[in-house]
Amino acid sequence: MNVQWYPGHMTKAMRQMQEDIKLIDIIIELIDARIPLASKNPDIDKLSNGKARLIILNKCDLADERETKRWEAYYREKGFYTLKMDARKSGSMKPVVDKIEEACAEKLEKNRRKGIINRPLRAMIAGIPNVGKSTLINSIVRKGSAKVGDKPGVTKGKQWIKFGKTVELLDTPGVLWPKFEDKEVGLKLASIGSINDTILDMGEVAAYVIEYLQNNYCNALKERYNIEVDGEPHEITERIAVIRGALKKGGEPDTDKAALLLIDDLRSGRLGRISLEKAEIKDEEEKEQE
Ligand code: G4P
Repeated sequence: MNVQWYPGHMTKAMRQMQEDIKLIDIIIELIDARIPLASKNPDIDKLSNGKARLIILNKCDLADERETKRWEAYYREKGFYTLKMDARKSGSMKPVVDKIEEACAEKLEKNRRKGIINRPLRAMIAGIPNVGKSTLINSIVRKGSAKVGDKPGVTKGKQWIKFGKTVELLDTPGVLWPKFEDKEVGLKLASIGSINDTILDMGEVAAYVIEYLQNNYCNALKERYNIEVDGEPHEITERIAVIRGALKKGGEPDTDKAALLLIDDLRSGRLGRISLEKAEIKDEEEKEQE
């Protein structure tokens, strides 16, 4: 796999983030709830410089609910504040403000003791492409939050969006790049559509998804396509092609078409709520039940 992320571009984005982080109290990092490890760039941990951290597991409407709870527990155990959300719903914004206040409680208290009462908590959103950063910012803006405008001296050239009573959000998100430690990370990112479809062979991506579903969400395949689900991934793609009438001129199953169909079904949630990564941890409810 040969993925080029234009190192110059990447360095520039990182440098910009480094500058922006100096202006803020909390980093809101968006990750994809279906792949909470592969969609997180670990470099941000080095940049964060002791700032409060909130991880939002976005697109939770597409992920397995139980797994999302476990991933929240996983990141909480690592010292992050967490939330899950569907960023397209502006109704889910109040919990974000509440969480920011909770994460910055110490800072608020410190300010209060110094007699500083009305200073806003400043936040920025960061994440790899396609996790929903712009969607979240738009939902916040739609909620009626006015732009704050430039503040000479302090935040030169920056636009801030008023978010609730206490928060100001930087209107441009920090863009991070996914880290391709191994091929599997690439396959996961490709499965959910986070990297350009021309980078990887979609037949290979579909084979990866099929094998994962066979092992973890076998019913999803059965119910969606009404097919037998044992066998090699290429046999499954053939069955999908046949049952969906994706045939070549001579009547042969068109497995390329079937692969795309399967991936589209996965991405749009038509296969059900599926998480492609599983946390090796119990969530609070599961711990209580023990
Ligand atoms: P980015 O700024 O981080 O690059 O991501 P962006 O907001 O552009 O979102 C990428 C895609 O993910 C968009 O879909 C957006 O609608 C979708 N999206 C964002 N948040 C959620 C969520 O919580 N749940 C679901 N299911 N989808 C979400 P798109 O295909 O690019 O556009 P559209 O077809 O939805 O208009």
